[in-house]
Amino acid sequence: MKIAIINGPNLNLLGNRETNIYGTQSFETYFETLQAIFKDDELIYFQDNVEGNLVTAIQQFGFNADAIVLNPAAYTHTSVAIGDAVAAVTATVVEVHISNIFARESFRQISHVSAKCAGVISGLGLKGYELAIHYIKSQAVPA
Ligand code: DQA
Repeated sequence: MKIAIINGPNLNLLGNRETNIYGTQSFETYFETLQAIFKDDELIYFQDNVEGNLVTAIQQFGFNADAIVLNPAAYTHTSVAIGDAVAAVTATVVEVHISNIFARESFRQISHVSAKCAGVISGLGLKGYELAIHYIKSQAVPA
């Protein structure tokens, strides 16, 4: 399967950023692990700090990949545009958050994206991305 992972703002700093919340591993390193686990699949990794660029990536991958694993980061809580992009595309979209957004500040408990996604994984660390891909693959219709 062709699966795009799209990460939002500040996730390029994983490994250095608030390590008590987000851990010490960079996403680039973790992505190598994911590629080893899902070696028969085409995984694509895209990260951007700009809201419109995330909308463009969701539009692009949303019509030519089978699925998107999306962590909109802080835009989760503010972006109607990202929610609309998820609603517009044909790919299955699974939302992932590294931290448990429901155990944090109240503003993080609002998502403009979750209702448009197949489901949400939150609070399971980087493992959430792997679990999202397992789910996506489990839903695939055999050729
Ligand atoms: C996050 C949670 C968001 O509230 C936060 O703004 C992030 C990361 C997470 O993966 O836990 O940047 O999406």
